[in-house]
Amino acid sequence: MFGIFLEEINHGVDGGLYAEMIRNRAFEGNTQPGGTFYDPERKIWRDQGGWDPGYREDPTGLPYWSLLQTGGAKGSMTLSDQEPLSKASPHSLKLEVDELGRGRIGIANEGYWGINCVKGAKYKLTFYARAARGFKGALHAGIESKDGTPCTAPVKFGWIGPKWKQYTATLVGARTDHRARFVIGAGAAGTVWFDFVSLLPAKTWRNLPLRPDVAQMIADLKPSFVRFPGGCATEGGTVETSYNWKDTIGPLTDRKEVFGAWGYYRTHGMGFHEYLQFCEDIGADPLYVAFCGQTCVWRFWENVPMSEMGWVVQNSLDSLDYANAPRATKWGKLRAKAGHPKPFNMTLFGIGNENIRREYEERYALVYNAVKKKYPNVTTIACFNNKAAPVDMVDDHRYVTTRWLMNTKETYDNYDRKAPKVYIGEISTYARDTAGGYNLLAGLTEAAYLMNLERNADVVRMVSYAPLLANVNGRTGWHGCINFDNYRIFGTPAYYTQKMYSWNRPSYTVATSVTSELTAKEHLRGRIGIDFAGLTAAITDVKVEKDGKLLYQSDFGKEGAKGWENAANWKIEDGALVSPGGGMVFFGDPNWEDYSVSLKMKWIEARQDWSAFVINFASSERSDNWWKIENGGRRSSIAACNDFYDGKPASVQDENWHDMKVEFKDGHIRCSLDGQVVHDFDLLPLYKFVAQAGLDEKTGDVLIKAVNTSPEPVAATINLAGIDNLAPSGYVTVMTSKSVEDQNTLDEPRKVAPKTSKLAGIAPSFAHEFLPNSFSVIRIRTWAKNQNSVSVDRGPLTFSVKIGEKYVRSGGTDEWPAWEIFPTTPWNYGLVIDKSNPAKSFEVVHKGWPKSEQPVVWDASPIELKAKAEKIPNWAENFWGLVDKLQPSPVKSDQPTVNITMIPMGAGRLRPSAIPVIGSGPDAHEWTPPEEPVSSFLLPSTPYCGAEDRGAGQAWQGLRHPRVADRLNGNARC
Ligand code: AHR
Repeated sequence: MFGIFLEEINHGVDGGLYAEMIRNRAFEGNTQPGGTFYDPERKIWRDQGGWDPGYREDPTGLPYWSLLQTGGAKGSMTLSDQEPLSKASPHSLKLEVDELGRGRIGIANEGYWGINCVKGAKYKLTFYARAARGFKGALHAGIESKDGTPCTAPVKFGWIGPKWKQYTATLVGARTDHRARFVIGAGAAGTVWFDFVSLLPAKTWRNLPLRPDVAQMIADLKPSFVRFPGGCATEGGTVETSYNWKDTIGPLTDRKEVFGAWGYYRTHGMGFHEYLQFCEDIGADPLYVAFCGQTCVWRFWENVPMSEMGWVVQNSLDSLDYANAPRATKWGKLRAKAGHPKPFNMTLFGIGNENIRREYEERYALVYNAVKKKYPNVTTIACFNNKAAPVDMVDDHRYVTTRWLMNTKETYDNYDRKAPKVYIGEISTYARDTAGGYNLLAGLTEAAYLMNLERNADVVRMVSYAPLLANVNGRTGWHGCINFDNYRIFGTPAYYTQKMYSWNRPSYTVATSVTSELTAKEHLRGRIGIDFAGLTAAITDVKVEKDGKLLYQSDFGKEGAKGWENAANWKIEDGALVSPGGGMVFFGDPNWEDYSVSLKMKWIEARQDWSAFVINFASSERSDNWWKIENGGRRSSIAACNDFYDGKPASVQDENWHDMKVEFKDGHIRCSLDGQVVHDFDLLPLYKFVAQAGLDEKTGDVLIKAVNTSPEPVAATINLAGIDNLAPSGYVTVMTSKSVEDQNTLDEPRKVAPKTSKLAGIAPSFAHEFLPNSFSVIRIRTWAKNQNSVSVDRGPLTFSVKIGEKYVRSGGTDEWPAWEIFPTTPWNYGLVIDKSNPAKSFEVVHKGWPKSEQPVVWDASPIELKAKAEKIPNWAENFWGLVDKLQPSPVKSDQPTVNITMIPMGAGRLRPSAIPVIGSGPDAHEWTPPEEPVSSFLLPSTPYCGAEDRGAGQAWQGLRHPRVADRLNGNARC
């Protein structure tokens, strides 16, 4: 369910995950974005609809590069399009050295907010160069501080020929400077061209050119899937700037750089292939979001004409072929050439992102039908449910407030189970009260909302946070979950929330009832805005009061619109402020809280089909509260803190002044029109504590997740009714901090981070205090899976019955001998355990450290346990010479109770890890003797390796040494 959304935004990939240190390495960084033209009025390059992609022409034509000339050296650096290196890289840098004198001349690159040079680290440099006839000097390359002090010893490249040639070298950091620059200097007068100048750290992540710290933080999330490459990055602002995966594969110099939707060039060093490889490396399913023929609707959207959709459909099919088709096919061959002959098996495919309307539906149907015809087993994901073609899954995005997350009614509990499955492809809060998504409150409230999704995992199949990455110097208007500069990194509390969920996934949630008084009354706070939507109307006598005290009173006649924003050119008539047929004005103090606002309003003229008079109250970035009267009074509605109510119609479309008043205090809201109450309600209480439990079937662990957003601890009693065989201790992972406003930074990267500790005293009902401002995950082990038998743990060690061992050589070589090990003492014991206090049933014996310095051996373990046990005579070796499998505990035994010794698992070769428990009550079972085989042909014909058989009921942990046969585990010969 939990995955990630890896988009090229905020310089998350170029300038982040992708380890390239040179910015504008191919010298394409000054090319205008496709589909834009120069607007002389606005003095920008923009698209047809007016969208400003953020491209700014660089006067030198060579952004991020500068000419370095000292000591009287003279020359110039220009953008050149002569003899391009490749079709995808038509530009290069031309360095002309007129005079060298006793100085120095060259080109310098500033990297992504500095080149990070670390003492002792190695860097791989590659670049292409060619020289005009007459250039007889060498080139010198290195990293240096901004004042010119070298950080690496410069490397020298000798004769530069007239044809493009690739040069490579390794630079070694001699000094650390995180804000250094990279320089190539020329050693003589003449002309040299450069292209594709690349510098990568020698140490990257596994086999990919990725920054190890960024890649590892992503991998640590253990995502089930990776959605890539966007987002708006897929859609582009224009068709030309949309993501075309074919531009992103093959040799780097053949990858076309594209000015993306987020205001910078994508190098595509992290191309389609690298995304797929990265997914495979971190064990995540790839989810490619393909361009669907409609560009981003938040920009100025264009649709590829239906008659020209062929290439869009083909690109989709080809992307699936590249990922999935056999090696012998056209795209399979290219994949193999890139180093991955086997298919990647991509089964998740997004058709567009946040695309809308009928135009999307038509294009969606085209792509959907083509994809399903060829790849019926691929799950496709649509932007919304529509009838144009079947929908497997819809991709919903949520950028919401903390209140919405804590208190939303959108729980999916009542979602139509027959409707398409849901993927919440993007979710996060970045409201003001979370410092733009960065503080603990964001992490806590997101954790609270994720409980809804986890509980409804039958319909909400997947969820991913957005945006994932942000270079703190290169944020493109968005926050990030993982933040970095060019050498440091930190995860926000939201990161740790994602990690805690991902690492603690229940197979299913269980009915959880939380009885908590911990709710808070809402105190709404903020300014006032009056919206005249398509309407000419007048207002006067605006009054703001709190507890009988006047906070504000308008006097438009005397003061005009003083203190009102946006009203500069509005008319004042007869002491009233008159809207010019539309617009919104604001006033007031953002700290006003729990107040009333009243005014007189005259509805003059609707200027369009739909018009409305809206009072926005307690308005801030984090909440949007309004009372709206539409179309002269045909409808009245109110929205406050995500609660929405429709009210009584009230006509205001006449020549009269109407009194309107909104009052709110302690979460109670009332609106009246001409003295008549139209809306009157209490906001839903704001929850401060939510919790949910689930079961992880794989481990048998009970998982309890709980969020406490209050500054007080919550003393809770946890009742685990109906769950048997709880281990007496578990673990609790808690993320908390002094204040919900606390956040991590580059300097304090783990100020708010989860910590795991042991939790003792687990019982069917036990007390636990949930810390203030916290998200906790409690993990409690149960043993129900192994037939109610038990494992005995002490600290990190698991103990098993100490069984006498006899080694009998059974072959092998002297170097790799094979042994069979036979028991020389009984092994078929059940433990006698005091249920009310299991730990008391064991005595710990410290034997001292062995002289041999070998503690993990049968007869010299420094620690042993003494326990009480009774034999189970029917539990015997079965027909195949295996220990017969476990039967349900508690087990009846008529044998005397004896003392047995237990030793740490590793110390014995014959080592039961799950041991039956002796009992006598009505729930105790008789142990039945092993079954005889029905006839001899049931005998296994292939060698049997007991070590591998760890299915349910298997009592024994086998041997790790492949050549040692363990008789109790079976006559293993493997
Ligand atoms: O996550 C940032 C952007 O938000 C995504 O690119 C887009 O899908 C959404 O609007």
